[in-house]
Amino acid sequence: MARAKPELTPLSGAGGAEIRGVDLSQEMDNETAEFVHKAYLDHVALFFQDQHLTPQAQERFVLRFGDPLVHPYLKPIEGSPYVHELRKTPEQTVNFGNGWHADFTFLEKPSAANALYARTIPDFGGDTVFINTAMAYDYLSEGMKRMLGGMNAVHRVHPRYVTDVDVMSNQKGKVREEQTIHPVIRTHPETGRKVLYINPSFVPQFEDMTEAESRPILDYLTNYMAQPEFQIRYRWKPDVLGIWDNRCSLHSALNDYQGKLRVMHRMVVMEPTRPVQ
Ligand SMILES: [Fe+2]
Repeated sequence: MARAKPELTPLSGAGGAEIRGVDLSQEMDNETAEFVHKAYLDHVALFFQDQHLTPQAQERFVLRFGDPLVHPYLKPIEGSPYVHELRKTPEQTVNFGNGWHADFTFLEKPSAANALYARTIPDFGGDTVFINTAMAYDYLSEGMKRMLGGMNAVHRVHPRYVTDVDVMSNQKGKVREEQTIHPVIRTHPETGRKVLYINPSFVPQFEDMTEAESRPILDYLTNYMAQPEFQIRYRWKPDVLGIWDNRCSLHSALNDYQGKLRVMHRMVVMEPTRPVQ
C-alpha cells in the first residue's frame, strides 16, 4: 500500500508548521525524509501530530538533525542515553527554559536542534514561543547590519540556568562555568541565510566591550527580536513531537500553568563538527 502523503499546515508568518501523515515510529523513505528536511529549513519549527514513539524511535529521528548530546546534568530516561524528562509537577512553581534563549550557545559547538515529545500537557498553558532570528536579521536597518556584522558576543552560563538545572536535576552545584565567543551575525550552514545570533539568557556582553556598554544594545536587540511578527507560538497536545532549529531561532517555555502537571521528553542535538561560518 502506498504511504499517505505528508500534510503540512503553516502556523504563522514567522514559521512553524504542523505535519500530519508521517509516522516517526517507522524508518522514513527518502522522499519523506527530503520533504521533512526541506520543511524544517523552510519553517524553523515542525510539530508532528499523533506520534507513538519508543525512546529509540525518537532518537533515530532526532539524530538526523545533529550530533548526539548526553546531557551533562539531567538524567536520561530508561531506554535512551539522549532522551531526558522535563517534568513540572503541580507543586513546583519554577519551570525549565523560561525566558528567551537557545540551548548551549555557551559552547564552541552549540546546539543545532531541540526536540520535545509531549507526554502530559495541561488543558491549557505551557505553550512554547519561538523567535525566527533569520527574519529578525532581515528586518534590521542596513546600518545596524553593518555595525553588528563586525561584532562578536560573549556567551556564558547564566545564574538562572544554574537554578533551572538545580531544580530539574534535584542536585545543587553541578553546573560548570563555561563561556565562548560567537559572531553576532552568523550564516546558517544549510540555508545560507544570515541570522541575528544573540542569546538574551546567555549573552552578558560583546567582545572587547564592558557589560555596561553592551547592555543598551543587548536590551534593544532583545526587545526588537521579541516583536510579535517574528514569533511562533505553539500550543502542545499529547503525542506531538516538536523539533526546531536552534541555529536560527530562540525559544521560551511559558510558565503559566501553576498547579498542573506537564511532562516532556527532550533531546538536544549539537552542531556537527564542520565549520558553521
Ligand atoms: Fe531551551
